[in-house]
Amino acid sequence: MIYLDNAATSFPKPKSCLRAMEDCMAHYCGNPGRSGHAMSMKTGEKVYEARASAARFLGAGDPASVIFTFNATDSLNLAIKGSLKPGDHVVTTSMEHNSVLRPLKALEAQGIGTTVVYGDSQGRVDPENVRKAIRPETALVICTHASNVTGTILPVEQIGRMVQEVRTERIGSRVEGVKELRFLVDASQSAGALDVNVEALGADLVAMPGHKGLLGPLGTGLLYVKPGCHLATLKEGGTGTTSRDLRQPEELPERYESGTVNAPALIGLGASIEVVRSLGWERIRAHEMRLVRRLEEGLRNMDQVVVYGPDHPEEKMGLVAFNIRNRDCEEVGEELNKYGIAVRAGFHCAGLAHKTIGTADTGCVRISVGPSNTLREMDAAVEAIRRVVKGR
Ligand code: ALA
Repeated sequence: MIYLDNAATSFPKPKSCLRAMEDCMAHYCGNPGRSGHAMSMKTGEKVYEARASAARFLGAGDPASVIFTFNATDSLNLAIKGSLKPGDHVVTTSMEHNSVLRPLKALEAQGIGTTVVYGDSQGRVDPENVRKAIRPETALVICTHASNVTGTILPVEQIGRMVQEVRTERIGSRVEGVKELRFLVDASQSAGALDVNVEALGADLVAMPGHKGLLGPLGTGLLYVKPGCHLATLKEGGTGTTSRDLRQPEELPERYESGTVNAPALIGLGASIEVVRSLGWERIRAHEMRLVRRLEEGLRNMDQVVVYGPDHPEEKMGLVAFNIRNRDCEEVGEELNKYGIAVRAGFHCAGLAHKTIGTADTGCVRISVGPSNTLREMDAAVEAIRRVVKGR
């Protein structure tokens, strides 16, 4: 099988990740931070090492500002619901995943309003439109770093600077009770292949899965919480600390990590992050750009094929979204599967992004590459698509 569904989850995972997980499960996996014996302590140390790796990767000074979660959706729910109160307003974009848009929809019932800034037909969002949508009651701006449908890279650094300007204006206005304004970046499709340094992004909160570009196991996610950025908890429970106190501790990361963490998976994630760090996101991106260029050379000139998203690969991540005219995208995905090509077809949990690019009724086929893919595999994928177009 040629695996081209890395935007859903990356495959293969690094050998060092598999070894670290097996070593933990086979030799020492106690419950981290709970007991004083050697196995619990070693598991706790290894989970801490994984947290420290993630913090270095994100340029976050303090490992405690990295909260481990179960996936990006979990991270986003904590960031969104932990930040907002009735009467607050949110600005976001039409290129967001449902893991942003559905929590916001659910919050409408609590009197929390949202303005969605639309992207253009290639999924590009003008930061000036985000600026114009900010109101005095806006408490949160949320922007994906890159679309999971088109791969379009959004101008998060510019939006981060703009949010900072608004904050400065609010503080300067000396009006009593001005709202705090936070910036949340969804780095689900960018982490590992773009710079996600939290200072450069200018973000208060950065959410990402561990299992996509960070090459870690499924069921892992991260939320960076800037020091001083206080969130309401979505769950309370055992943290292994201050057990006689019925109140949830304030200390990080325990405040947001109730219950036993998936230690083997987090330890595997730590090993994967080290692989990504040593390769460097720049090299991974350059490789993925070469692959995408090769795919696009084949597909943009192919009769009956329509490619979506930015014309220039530099403006997007390592993915190509396309349709074959008058063909159902799910059927095309199934046919490619028969040729041994794994892609994702449909609406990609992002109906509004599809509406934005004009595929609300059809969906599309998405090819997404990873660091292990080769140019030869791109040629095989293009050839398989050519055969599907020709019906043989
Ligand atoms: N959000 C993931 C995707 O885009 C699962 O496929």
